[in-house]
Amino acid sequence: MNYTICLLPGDGIGPEIMAQAVRVLNVVGQKFGHTFTYTEALAGGCAIDAVGDPLPEATLAACKASDAVLLGAVGGPKWDNLPRHQRAETGLLKLRKELNCFANFRPATLFPQLASASYLRPDIVSKGLDVLVVRELTGCVYFGQPKGIVEENGERMGFNTMRYTESEVRRIAKVGFEAARKRGKRLCSVDKANVLDVSQLWRDVVMEVHKDYPDVELTHMYVDNAAMQLVRDPSQFDVIVTGNLFGDILSDAAAAITGSIGMLPSASVGESGPGIYEPIHGSAPDIAGQDKANPLATILSVAMMLRFALNLEAEAAAIEGAVSAVLDQGLRTGDIYQSAPSDTSGLTLVGCTAMGDAVVAALQ
Ligand code: IPM
Ligand code: MG
Repeated sequence: MNYTICLLPGDGIGPEIMAQAVRVLNVVGQKFGHTFTYTEALAGGCAIDAVGDPLPEATLAACKASDAVLLGAVGGPKWDNLPRHQRAETGLLKLRKELNCFANFRPATLFPQLASASYLRPDIVSKGLDVLVVRELTGCVYFGQPKGIVEENGERMGFNTMRYTESEVRRIAKVGFEAARKRGKRLCSVDKANVLDVSQLWRDVVMEVHKDYPDVELTHMYVDNAAMQLVRDPSQFDVIVTGNLFGDILSDAAAAITGSIGMLPSASVGESGPGIYEPIHGSAPDIAGQDKANPLATILSVAMMLRFALNLEAEAAAIEGAVSAVLDQGLRTGDIYQSAPSDTSGLTLVGCTAMGDAVVAALQ
């Protein structure tokens, strides 16, 4: 088969990690007999520099014409002080909205080889760490109107609106239940219904949708407690479904407890059309251009892309197996080397390209 993938390398370490991901994808193509055709477009700070817009029309058109979008990372200090409509992040939000990618899957799993990299106590880690955060991605306070900064009573006042319609909650709840059904059949819906009306509606609608999924156990948790429970005992969670803002925060917490944000992929999908596949880490401007970045989160995002967008399960599993193999070989980029125990015997510190080389070799 022939597939068109739109590449958005972005800023900072984005181009470096993307280069390794594309090498891996090409090897998968050779091995399994697929052709991947790439279109590459500007998004984020590099697009602001080139054409003054973080998501140019040409980029959006290229994304819409593809089977899937693979994104590196966007943003950096260079663009942080521009007006909001010119920020790199604004381009990313617009891309999610335009492609209607309302469901964001963020699996936080720990490769056993990296158990000692977790920030949690060994007795907590040994109970297992395999949480899937399903985050709503195109609503909530991220997009709600009205919003702005205005003058009020002689001082500035900033405000945003947290809002969800019933249909928005229903469709993400379904995604959460479906995901739980394929895993441990436990769904925890996270809200702030003790305070927020929008969360009360969220909870009511999730309970209604639950009637269609009697085989899935549903629990509810307030977001503050969920943050604490994730750190205290993540093994209690299977799938978490939550809104955009709470999901943003909780998915970083879930990532951090694995000790290696450089390892975690994500998928953002809608009901139809291309999805967006990207590592959950940022553009890491401090190490950009130094061949130090960990490409594995992007490579694992390629695996998610093959599985979700192209229905290529064996190919996805081959990539995941190759990543596991290079970890077995003791290869570590700086992010997962530094968090290793003080005894690093048997581990080899490698750069971004060498890590890509190793994954390619393991695939072949
Ligand atoms: C994420 C990021 C983005 C978000 C930023 C870069 C706009 O933090 O994907 O989690 O808040 O959604
Ligand atoms: Mg975030």
